[in-house]
Amino acid sequence: MCGIVGFTSRNRPAIGPLVNGLRRLEYRGYDSAGVALESADGIKVYKQTGKVAELDSLLSRALPEGERGKYTLGIAHTRWATHGLPTVANAHPHIADEGRLALVHNGIIENYAALRAGLEKRGAKFLSQTDTEVVAHLVAAFDKGDFLTAVAEALKRVEGTYGIAAISARHPGEMVVARKGSPLVIGVGEDDIVVASDVSAIVAYTRQVIYLKDGDIARITPKGVDIHTLDNSPVTREVQEVDWDIGAIEKGGYEHFMLKEIFEQPDALANTIRGRLDPAGGTAFLSGLSLSPRELAAVRRVVIVGCGTSLHAGMVGKYLFEKLADIPTAPEQAAEFRYSNPIVGPDDWVMALSQSGETADTLAAVRESIRKGALVSGLCNVVGSTIAREAGRGVYLHAGPEISVASTKAFTAQVTALLMTALKLGRTRRLSFEDGDRLVKEISRLPELVGKVLEGNDAIAKVAEKYAKADDMFFIGRGMLHPVALEGALKIKEVAYVHAEGYQAAELKHGPIALLSEKTPVVALLADIPGKEKTLGNVQECRARLAPVVGVVTEGDEAAAAAVTDALVIPKTCAELSPIVTVVVLQLFAYHVARLRGCEIDQPRNLAKSVTVE
Ligand code: AGP
Repeated sequence: MCGIVGFTSRNRPAIGPLVNGLRRLEYRGYDSAGVALESADGIKVYKQTGKVAELDSLLSRALPEGERGKYTLGIAHTRWATHGLPTVANAHPHIADEGRLALVHNGIIENYAALRAGLEKRGAKFLSQTDTEVVAHLVAAFDKGDFLTAVAEALKRVEGTYGIAAISARHPGEMVVARKGSPLVIGVGEDDIVVASDVSAIVAYTRQVIYLKDGDIARITPKGVDIHTLDNSPVTREVQEVDWDIGAIEKGGYEHFMLKEIFEQPDALANTIRGRLDPAGGTAFLSGLSLSPRELAAVRRVVIVGCGTSLHAGMVGKYLFEKLADIPTAPEQAAEFRYSNPIVGPDDWVMALSQSGETADTLAAVRESIRKGALVSGLCNVVGSTIAREAGRGVYLHAGPEISVASTKAFTAQVTALLMTALKLGRTRRLSFEDGDRLVKEISRLPELVGKVLEGNDAIAKVAEKYAKADDMFFIGRGMLHPVALEGALKIKEVAYVHAEGYQAAELKHGPIALLSEKTPVVALLADIPGKEKTLGNVQECRARLAPVVGVVTEGDEAAAAAVTDALVIPKTCAELSPIVTVVVLQLFAYHVARLRGCEIDQPRNLAKSVTVE
């Protein structure tokens, strides 16, 4: 949830890379930020509430350009508050040992209260309400001369999750970092070493990275990286090359990352599909699954776990697997799944959906499924992420970095990858070559189809203008469009702060219809799939309560267009692709309503891109 950065160099000042790194990680949390710099006369700490920009202006005032050269080692943090309000005192870095030691942390220390009480008994003075400050005082308490050992001893007493970086005036030139449950990556450049919660804060300096694993701790100096376990046995980790560059995480002339990522979808989907369709077999290649047709045929049930937008993609997956592969499929909210003592076993295939690959509840669901002997695979966008590595097999989305907190291109890529997986599984069962071939042809048209939807951006913006003042909205759909209605409601909630609900269209009559009036627009998903006629009936019921209805209708479907107040048109395609073309309309609708309401689109209040705590 928070973003941490560490930087050390033979010659380059640290402040620039630390602040730029925080800017790249700001989507992980943005209620306060801070840095700690090592200097000849001790550790200097600067903290500020609000965005990284506020910290940067504090640094400009406190450390004029000319002075900056002497700081070549530092750590930094941008926060998403879990313990304690967003105040300067609770902002990171936290200090101990009379200011000689500074530490930043991403994660949650579950036993912090007990540890704090023990440390206070031994005279430690706490300045904040955070869980993190406990770790700083613990490290100071265990520092008997070797910095790495001091941090390791402290972490052995900690329960919970962490990605941490620490520096100390007692150990000049050294930074110690460690991870358990929260991501941490080390970028190894010619003269610089950058540590960060994810590679987006590193690629400006190097594309050679090391992904730390849970239980790893590392001592970092300009000379290099020395990785150990907490019990001090040396560990070797592979250096990997990041396959994208800084351009991918720039706005590229768009006003917001969300709009850029919506418009990137034709290319992103082309990347998700590339090399994975098999026209000759009327099926799909998904080498990352490394499952033989015999192993696929042995699967008795599919379980799809995820959270938020990923869960919605999983719910669309249910319809695709049951239709194409004739296999019972259960989408599960990961937090419920992990604590429900889930009934999964060797005959079950558990698919974990996560754009970031770091969502704590989904990661725990993966670990629980592995414990129970299920076949487990990941469907992630971030290469090298924890879920991808721990699942051990899976499908990468290749949708490119997704910076905006509101997930858009990852959703369409997830549904496309699930569709190709269902196709592959179906072809090991009763799905005919003809049906497979039809789908292969239709899937290969996806980039062009989504391109067509994007051409309707202005029309969508015009309709959004009409409803941008509404504070309550409903989204309705049936079949595989029901999860898309949930996704449409989620998008407009998180970026435009509109109180919106997504419903299976028939469900309205069982209560929610009581809320309808001329003030509650209803967005009805009317793509040409089974159930459309029934949804048109529900549209009449809404209009009978004077609620304006925005319909997402298929081009040429005059009847549906005539039945609604405002029609937004999608290109003709098959039922299996209708969730993808439909959701792009809802993404743009939410974007324009948010833009017209003046919302912070890329960094909505109270949210963070990757939820690494429970
Ligand atoms: C979606 O716009 C949100 N950012 C959120 O619901 C997100 O989908 C959820 O936190 C899951 O994230 P993941 O896909 O990275 O696991």
